[in-house]
Amino acid sequence: MAYHYDYIIEEAPGPVTRINGREYLYFAGTGYFQLNARPEILRAASEAVLRYGTGSATSRSITGTTPLLLELERKVAEFFGTEDAAYLPSGYLSNIAGMKALAGMNKFDVIFLDEGSHYSLAEAALTTGRTVITFSHRNVEDLKDKLAGKLSPGQRPLIATDGLFPLRALPAPLREYADLAGQYDGVVWIDDAHGVGIRGRNGRGSYEHYGLRSERLFMGATLSKAFGAYGGIIPGDAAFIARVKAGSVMTGTNAPMNAAVAAGIKGVEIVAGHPEMREKLWDNASYLKKGLRKIGIPADENDLPVVVFAPGDEATLSAIHSSLMEQGIYIQLARYKGSGNSGILRIVVFSTHERSQIDTLLDRLKTVLRDHKADGPDRETP
Ligand SMILES: Cc1ncc(COP(=O)(O)O)c(C=O)c1O
Repeated sequence: MAYHYDYIIEEAPGPVTRINGREYLYFAGTGYFQLNARPEILRAASEAVLRYGTGSATSRSITGTTPLLLELERKVAEFFGTEDAAYLPSGYLSNIAGMKALAGMNKFDVIFLDEGSHYSLAEAALTTGRTVITFSHRNVEDLKDKLAGKLSPGQRPLIATDGLFPLRALPAPLREYADLAGQYDGVVWIDDAHGVGIRGRNGRGSYEHYGLRSERLFMGATLSKAFGAYGGIIPGDAAFIARVKAGSVMTGTNAPMNAAVAAGIKGVEIVAGHPEMREKLWDNASYLKKGLRKIGIPADENDLPVVVFAPGDEATLSAIHSSLMEQGIYIQLARYKGSGNSGILRIVVFSTHERSQIDTLLDRLKTVLRDHKADGPDRETP
C-alpha cells in the first residue's frame, strides 16, 4: 500500500484535484467548504505578506502583535459570541495552551480523557502536570464510574474530548459531559477542530449543535479545515483568554505568519456570512450517505460529511483504493487514530461537490466493490 506521503498534491484541493500528475475526483482532506482556494482569501493572504512581511520574527509578548492579529481575534470572538479569543500558530498548540491556562486558573484537579482523543489532547493533558485518567471512547457510563471511583471528595474534573472525532466524524456526548462537569463542579475542554464551521446553526461547532453554553465549557479549534486558513483558535471569556495569552505557548512561540492571519480573517468572515455553504454541505452529506447505503455501505443517517468503511482485509482495502484511483477517484485509505492497523477507507464530501460528481463516485465504487467481491459486512475496527 502506498503510504499517503507518496501522494503529492499539485494544486489547491478541490472537487477535482491534481495528484501525482493526474486529475482525480477528490473526496478527502478536511476542506469542507473548499475555502483554501477562494480568491478573496488568497488575495488577503498575499496583501498581508506584501504589507507586513512573512512574520514579525518575535513572539506576541514582545512586538509580535500586528493589527491583523488583533482583528482576527476580534472576529473569532464575534463569530463565537465570546468576550475574547486567542489565535495561535496551530490547533495542536491550542489544546496545550488552553488546558494549561485552565490548570493555571485552578479550575480542576484531575483530567478525564476520552481514550480516542486526538494526539494533541493527550499530550496537552500531560503538560498540565495533573493526574490523567482515560475513559472508554464516548462512553458516558464508564466516565460516570471513573468520576465516582477516582475523584477524592472535593476534587474537580476536567473532561477532555474531541467535539467531533475526525476519522469517522463521531460526535462526543457533550450534553452528558456538561451535566457531569456541573455535578462535580468541574469543566469540559473540547478540541473542536472538525466541528467548527460545519456544526451548529451559526457554525460555532459542537457546543452550538447541542445548544450548550456555560462558564464550565471551554474549547480550542483550528482555522485550517472549514475556514480555509491556518492556525489555532481559543474563544472564551476575557479572564481565561488573558491567561492563555500570558501562558508559555504564546509567549514562547513566534506570532503566527501574516498570510495565515489574513487568510483567517477572511475565512471567518466568509463562514459567518454564508450559512448556505453549511446547508449545502449537510445536503451533500445526506445525499452521499443515502447513495452509499443503496450500494451496501453502512453510513449513518446524519449530515456529517465523512463516511468510513472497511469491507475486507488490508489487501482488499488497498486493492479497492488502487482500482478507484485507476478510475480517477481519490478517497483516503486512512491510517489514523482509531483506524486499526489495516487502515480504513474514508470518503469526505465538500459543500462544493456537484451531485453528478457524487453520482460518479457511487457508480465507480459500486463496480469496484463488485469486482473485488467486497460486499461482505464491514470488518470491525477499533
Ligand atoms: C482533532 C484535531 N485536533 C487538532 C488538530 C491539529 O490542528 P492544526 O493542524 O491546526 O495543528 C487536528 C488536525 O489537524 C485534528 O484533526
